[in-house]
Amino acid sequence: MTEPAPTPRRPQDRILVAIDTAEEARAVDLSRGLAGAVGGIKLGLEFFNAHGPEGVRRVTRATPEETPRGQAPVQQRLFLDLKFHDIPNTVAGAVRGAMQLGPAILNVHAAGGPAMMTAARQAADFQADSLGIVRPMLIAVTVLTSLDDDDLTATGQQGPAAEQVVRLARLTQSCGLDGVVCSAHEITAIRAACGPDFKLIVPGIRPAGAQTGDQKRTMTPGEAVASGADFLVIGRPITGAPNPAEAAAAIAAEIAA
Ligand code: C5P
Repeated sequence: MTEPAPTPRRPQDRILVAIDTAEEARAVDLSRGLAGAVGGIKLGLEFFNAHGPEGVRRVTRATPEETPRGQAPVQQRLFLDLKFHDIPNTVAGAVRGAMQLGPAILNVHAAGGPAMMTAARQAADFQADSLGIVRPMLIAVTVLTSLDDDDLTATGQQGPAAEQVVRLARLTQSCGLDGVVCSAHEITAIRAACGPDFKLIVPGIRPAGAQTGDQKRTMTPGEAVASGADFLVIGRPITGAPNPAEAAAAIAAEIAA
């Protein structure tokens, strides 16, 4: 069985661009414009529910005929951010189905529990073997950063949130998943609990001087990588820039420095 790629080699490989739009033409433009400039793109529920698997294929895999003259066909690595959370049998089926799209990264909610996460891993191993492809990195969401300690109490979960994040990260690792999505401010605690090989995918990143928008606790790309992030999920600082590829290159240069 082939395992997911271990560590990003070039600084730009760490950048996963969040393409948060339901407009397919815009997603295709961004994906093509960023080919080679980033490590991959993240498509989530907003895009998937509007355009389905075929829409995802159109964004990640342009054929030579569809590619504008002078540009290389896009083969963007895909983080398919659908956050599965259901009974183990259903999540296993969802993982097998999603793998038809050849994603580099898939994710589930750790709150779905150990049997669900174990089933996700087994389904990914099985499907990678039967399709003859590399198994995607399997990542869990621990506690949504939109939830605070009061929300955890309201939903009967044991807080504080910072402790629940580490508890769920350990559980994720024990089920054979590769890592978690976490806020930059959770990196140090999760690294200490789960060790150097556990993958940390970190949103809420803002280059120095960039607008924070609705993100409240941000870190710069350089700080996040220095703290131990493996991949950075970056949306508007790249997608909202006049030249997204240049914005990505500037971020890669900041990571390299
Ligand atoms: O535009 P921006 O860089 O803020 O986009 C960040 C991306 O990461 C969005 O797709 C957002 O949904 C996602 N995300 C986040 N915070 C989390 C988990 C995911 O911002 N805790």
